[in-house]
Amino acid sequence: MERGKVDALLGIVFGDEGKGKVVDVFTPKYDVVARFAGGPNAGHTIIFEGKKFVLRSIPSGIFDEGKLNIIGNGCVIAPDLFMAEAKELETAGYDLRSRLHISKRAHLILPTHRVLDRAYEAAKGKSKVGTTGKGIGPTYSEKAARTSLRVGDILENFQAKYEALKARHEQMLRDLNYTDYDITEEEKLWLEGIEYMRTFPLTDTEIEINKYLREGKNVLAEGAQGTMLDIDHGTYPYVSSSSTICGGVCTGLGVAPLSIGEVFGIFKAYSTRVGAGPFPVELFDETGDKIREIGHEYGAVTGRNRRCGWVDLVALKYAIMINGVTQLIMMKGDVLDTFETIRVCVAYEKDGVTTTDMPYETEGWKAVYKDLPGWQTDLTGITRKEDFPEAFASYIKYLEKELETPITIVSVGPDRAQTIEM
Ligand code: IMP
Repeated sequence: MERGKVDALLGIVFGDEGKGKVVDVFTPKYDVVARFAGGPNAGHTIIFEGKKFVLRSIPSGIFDEGKLNIIGNGCVIAPDLFMAEAKELETAGYDLRSRLHISKRAHLILPTHRVLDRAYEAAKGKSKVGTTGKGIGPTYSEKAARTSLRVGDILENFQAKYEALKARHEQMLRDLNYTDYDITEEEKLWLEGIEYMRTFPLTDTEIEINKYLREGKNVLAEGAQGTMLDIDHGTYPYVSSSSTICGGVCTGLGVAPLSIGEVFGIFKAYSTRVGAGPFPVELFDETGDKIREIGHEYGAVTGRNRRCGWVDLVALKYAIMINGVTQLIMMKGDVLDTFETIRVCVAYEKDGVTTTDMPYETEGWKAVYKDLPGWQTDLTGITRKEDFPEAFASYIKYLEKELETPITIVSVGPDRAQTIEM
């Protein structure tokens, strides 16, 4: 029997591209949907049949009966937030335990990791990362330092392990002079979350996934955040702390590189970024405000305003290279419906130097633009590519040519139905 494949669906810019919606549309084609990196810093919004869900740690395949969803070893998980997210789905009638397995090798975010996240940010002064405050950085740091707790730890002698790590964190916080915090309520919920998690299958997910692949079944790896937030290839230090790229699928699920099939790179028809860090295409004018308003560009996790700008070919080309993207998916084309001119960043410029390659230091670069005509047509009701206005079809063609990669799906609205295969 032919082995199954792991297709990757990756945000290839700064996250928030709309992965949740696409995974949900893709799910019927896969037997397993797995998260391989990140944690509750993500917020994947799914809208269907008039219902809206924001998934943070749970894979977006959870709504389909008969699919296995996996939180892989590369993820970090906050038991209290997981419990809240899972209970909401249970209340809505979804049976989770038959559909969701959690890796014993995933790492646990403690309440004190979240306090440390705040403490480190406070200590950074002006050079804050602008994290989501979910304890992501401190947890991955401890994973690398080999002092962290994993999901498998909750199966045996957990309380003692927890108290020891918490005491260590408390000492770290005293050393940072960060003592004004109270986790009493949070900790209660967190410990309740641990008990709740015990009722789920906590498994060796890497063995399960490989067994599925041997049986010829296919897996969809659902990315979180985006390539420009990757710990190695993003705009360091303004990045998240995990491997958000295609290589992260292998380490974060325990699958071999040869198992990777299609690599879907998802991006928006424009750019956004949440948090601090370089963003050469950022618009500080009313055009930026207009994109934010029409695109509802406010953080799904933190509610913060997203910084907005035109699409960035320098970043996209870099991400396509790093991930080996085989197909592109363009989201939110409709947000640009009313613009007379559509701008595309084709290069960066600084001190008379122009580059189309992602520079090591992205600070201080300015975008160089090419202008294209806007389509000034409402795209939201269009269901066939043949009905695209000419200027929109040309925009797609231009991007495909520049990026040397086909755009195979275009989304023109939040609903499942507003997804057009090319
Ligand atoms: P952290 O992942 O909470 O440590 O945040 C690090 C940086 O990544 C900050 O700039 C966040 O705003 C950004 N970030 C983290 N998760 C997401 C996401 O899901 N979408 C967009 N930005 C994110």
